[in-house]
Amino acid sequence: MKFKIGIFDSGIGGFTILKALLKTRNDVEVIYLADTMRIPYGNKNSSQIRYIAKEICNWFADKKLDALLIACNTTNACALDILESKLNIPCFDLINSVSEVINQKTIGILATPTTVKSSYYEKVISAQRKNLKIIQQGCPEFVSEIEKNKLDIKKINFLSDLYLSSLLKENIEVLILGCSHYPLIYNIIREKLDKNINIIDPSAALIEKFNKFFSTPKISSNKALSYDNVSFFVTAGNEQFSQKVKFWLEINKEIRLV
Ligand code: DGL
Repeated sequence: MKFKIGIFDSGIGGFTILKALLKTRNDVEVIYLADTMRIPYGNKNSSQIRYIAKEICNWFADKKLDALLIACNTTNACALDILESKLNIPCFDLINSVSEVINQKTIGILATPTTVKSSYYEKVISAQRKNLKIIQQGCPEFVSEIEKNKLDIKKINFLSDLYLSSLLKENIEVLILGCSHYPLIYNIIREKLDKNINIIDPSAALIEKFNKFFSTPKISSNKALSYDNVSFFVTAGNEQFSQKVKFWLEINKEIRLV
């Protein structure tokens, strides 16, 4: 039996969650929605994000999903209640999933300005454990840089130094990549940090939770990922998105405009 799974993000950030999912199982059919018309989400206010979340639910409503993977931290932070209540299916989110597995005391978080402003990460992590030091840093320019057809490595290096400086002053033990786009530049961020600082991509915790809920069939981990059962939808710019799918996932795929 195949499980029908919805994944959404403002753009390519959800690829980190999609890949993590397909690495662990082949019994899923995925509908991936990228709201490219409204990207970036991370500089919109909370009520705009809540409005968008309702529209995302309306779009998924007739897709007969078995579960929704919320591949966008910004929507997760501002509108989890809407996503959970409107679709009436199991929803798996990044922020609650990762918060359950963090065990360090001094925690740095890189996220979009809207996620930082919501303080949702702080709220969820502090509800699990006390006496923590949580330092959040908004990264207003990362998403637009990562979404460019050709990455400007010099600029991303410059921005990484800029955004990490406040966190490094606080001697963080762990860094959470609190926007699903950021794991796509993991290697650049890794180079800037001491080896003993753990970098966490929340998608691993989300997929682990998902796999506990829908028990996993064993698949061989060295098999190439197959995107045969993935359909991609965008709200604008299907041509450009197809270039990004080719670059990041190394596949040619039809991209449908919603
Ligand atoms: N990738 C999303 C997130 O995790 C949205 C980023 C954006 O569109 O600003 O927050």
